[in-house]
Amino acid sequence: MFLVFILIIEAGLFFYLYTGLANTRISEELESLRVRGNSHREVLEQHRDSITLSHVALMESETDTDVVITNINGEVLSASTPLITGAKAAVNEWRDKKLPYEGKILQRDWETSPYIATASPIEVNDNQVGTVYMFKDTKDIKGMIDRLQHHFYIAGIISIVFAVVTTFALSKLITAPLVQMKQATEKISQGHLTVKLGAHSRDEVGQLGTSIQALANELQRLKKERNEFLSSISHELQTPLMYVKGYADIAKRHETSEENRTKYLGVIEEEAERISKLVKDLFQLARLDKNTFLIEKQEVELQSYLSKICEAFQLALSEKNVHIEVNCPKYVNVLIDEERFMQVIINVIDNALRYSETKKILISVEEDNWRVKLSIQDYGVGIPSEDVPYVFDKLYRVDKSRSRKNGGYGLGLSIVKDIVEAHGGKVEMTSIAEKGTTVSISLPKER
Ligand SMILES: Nc1ncnc2c1ncn2[C@@H]1O[C@H](COP(=O)(O)OP(=O)(O)OP(=O)(O)O)[C@@H](O)[C@H]1O
Ligand SMILES: [Mg+2]
Repeated sequence: MFLVFILIIEAGLFFYLYTGLANTRISEELESLRVRGNSHREVLEQHRDSITLSHVALMESETDTDVVITNINGEVLSASTPLITGAKAAVNEWRDKKLPYEGKILQRDWETSPYIATASPIEVNDNQVGTVYMFKDTKDIKGMIDRLQHHFYIAGIISIVFAVVTTFALSKLITAPLVQMKQATEKISQGHLTVKLGAHSRDEVGQLGTSIQALANELQRLKKERNEFLSSISHELQTPLMYVKGYADIAKRHETSEENRTKYLGVIEEEAERISKLVKDLFQLARLDKNTFLIEKQEVELQSYLSKICEAFQLALSEKNVHIEVNCPKYVNVLIDEERFMQVIINVIDNALRYSETKKILISVEEDNWRVKLSIQDYGVGIPSEDVPYVFDKLYRVDKSRSRKNGGYGLGLSIVKDIVEAHGGKVEMTSIAEKGTTVSISLPKER
């Protein structure tokens, strides 16, 4: 298409240039012929004796133009020799033509006629007494036009070759990366995510390539993550199910005492509960991922909200002999989904109680113009610094071989992160081994 457009434009321009040039050249020829006739006429208006007449004829015999001089009746008084064929007959035919004083072009058809011709009247006291007819052979004009055409052909061929070559080179240059990208996206859609798109230029095509590469990498990462997640989940399910199956087997036996049977059934119930919690947590995570999780924010006064949650923990706290302190100024309001946010705080406190062997948990609230920062701090064993960056990942646990008893699945903190982010907030963890752990949640203030 590009090439066709270029060729059409080129052809149009060449045609315009060629006809313009050719017409100008021919007009120039005709004009100079007329002017020459006029200058002869001026001489003849002064002297019309036979010497002058033959002198004018002699002058034209030496040039590539011819002259025929007639009197008012069209009789030839003088003519250059040799005279172009057909000139006398033409003069005879034109003798009654009315001529303006500045002369007239009588034959301009250079393509079919053997000559071009002009005529200038000889006037004495405003009366025409004769005519000067000028002729020029069209052979020369044709030769000139042929040369012009020849130049145009050469220029035309060169520019067509250039247009073809540059168009193909350019389209190759432009389409090659696009073709590569097309193949890459086809591969991606078929599930082959290891695409390599090579170096990218800095134009739009290059940026597109970079985006596709990034997309492929991200898809690959997600695929890997999903596979790992699935295998971890099945692994996590394996253990409690094994317990359920094992204890059910023993409980079923006749020789098992009633007391043991009750104990084993208790274990089975406990494990079933764990599985149920896992499934519930996974379900919640899946909903958080899909953005179908509706956060219904309302204004909540933090101090009373926090003490309400702590009350719920009272039993577990006194059992473990842990003291919880809430350090929150009055009338700090935040926009949160009460129920979901409760889960955030419960998960964090639950971790502190379970893993840190702390004797005190401090919940403090700070407020500035832009955000409300809520920190939950324990003074327990802390988390090794190499584990801290991963604690918000799904299924990540510091103690991989943790006993079944107080072991979670490593989903609590990822749920915390998802819920806080769904509120537009941020959650961070700082921890020093043997000193304690702080989870800081900052929520933006709606203004
Ligand atoms: N306050 C803390 N002190 C020490 N370690 C902690 C603390 N909080 C979290 N951790 C460590 O981080 C890991 C991840 O915590 P997370 O709450 O995500 O999972 P979990 O408690 O193991 O399981 P779940 O919450 O799903 O029952 C925990 O397994 C624990 O090793
Ligand atoms: Mg937890």
